[in-house]
Amino acid sequence: MYNILLLGSGGREHAIAQKVSESPLCNQLFTAPGNPGTAQVGTNVSLDIVDFFKIEDYCKKHNIHWVIVGPEQPLVEGIYDYFKESPIRVFGPSKEASLLEGSKTFANDFMAKYNIPTGASKTFTFDQIEEGKQFIDDQSIPIVLKADGLAAGKGVLIIQSKEEAKEEFEKMLKGKFGDASRQVVVETFLDGVEFSVFAMTNGKEYILLPEAKDYKRIGEGDVGLNTGGMGAVSPVPFFDEALKTKVIEKIVSPTINGINEEGFDYYGFVFFGLILVGNEPYVIEYNVRMGDPETEVVFPRIDSDIISLMESCFEHRLNTVELSTNLASASTVMLVSGGYPETYEKNKLITMPPNVNKNQQYFFAGTKNDKGELRTNGGRVIACTAFGNDIQDAVLKSNEMAELVDFEAKYYRKDIGQDLFNYLKK
Ligand code: GLY
Repeated sequence: MYNILLLGSGGREHAIAQKVSESPLCNQLFTAPGNPGTAQVGTNVSLDIVDFFKIEDYCKKHNIHWVIVGPEQPLVEGIYDYFKESPIRVFGPSKEASLLEGSKTFANDFMAKYNIPTGASKTFTFDQIEEGKQFIDDQSIPIVLKADGLAAGKGVLIIQSKEEAKEEFEKMLKGKFGDASRQVVVETFLDGVEFSVFAMTNGKEYILLPEAKDYKRIGEGDVGLNTGGMGAVSPVPFFDEALKTKVIEKIVSPTINGINEEGFDYYGFVFFGLILVGNEPYVIEYNVRMGDPETEVVFPRIDSDIISLMESCFEHRLNTVELSTNLASASTVMLVSGGYPETYEKNKLITMPPNVNKNQQYFFAGTKNDKGELRTNGGRVIACTAFGNDIQDAVLKSNEMAELVDFEAKYYRKDIGQDLFNYLKK
């Protein structure tokens, strides 16, 4: 039996906490800082997720065995390395391995070395502005500009004119995204349909989790500003056995092999952000954690005991594990505060429906408990997850759930999954 500290406060962490709390191998679950959802299934703790010294102190006082890391920040700042010599185990990769997410240039170099398909790219620094503009002139449009570092999901621009691309390129190198864009990657635009694949790995062995597709733009029809994610569905109907085999052979296996060859310490999740161009999958990005809101559809579809899976991962027994997956389809629709992803107000009273069907769950994100009242506390507020016979049925139910929650200036996309419904008829 394990005492577990989970780090994070989003819908992803509520979904992870829910699954962890259901495990017979979980003794006590703490979440830092958590949210009203994680408080329903464990104990919330007021800790800064990048204050490793205080986290260690808390772990020692509460006999914590494992720290499970939800978001990327503590990983990129080296939480694995901080605890490396300690008996407390961190489920998340080392600081060096986290550069797969923390630096686009590092990830591109890794993919080039291990022959993993991705768009062609070149990285430029501030003293290469003119060279970079010349490079942009030589590309075809649209031009993709990526901040090299972490930019809270906002650091990727797809631009339709070379002049505008050159202006944005210069602004980025001059600090538009702070330190994250002190290096800028100029990439070939890949035109296709995006989807995401997830693996749990110990850097040598891996198991694949259910795949998902998320919807990043704020507006219906996938238009407008990028967000952290407005909804997701799982499974992805075009991810058939043939595509799965190709993704494993061309992307997943070479990536895990590369992690092994590089000698990275890696106990955790690999999130492969992929795009299907024609019949060929390419990597758009790696993340070294689960996605949000993808976790809110992927985790509910896992029937296996998540703690037992993580134990097998730490003990290098993952290749003996058979993942058991719920065959029903899942969708989640994110309720957000009006104005998100730009400015929005917080502290709005939330009213929830009195009863929730057992095939449905609200995962709490930017919410807080204020003297017994549930109030908004962020841009993404609540993920409405539902199961259905197929993703169309699941989305219908998620939309019904979304209608039943009320807070001032509530907004959600009603078209989650719609682009995939045609595949269901094939
Ligand atoms: N939904 C995208 C992400 O978690 O990065």
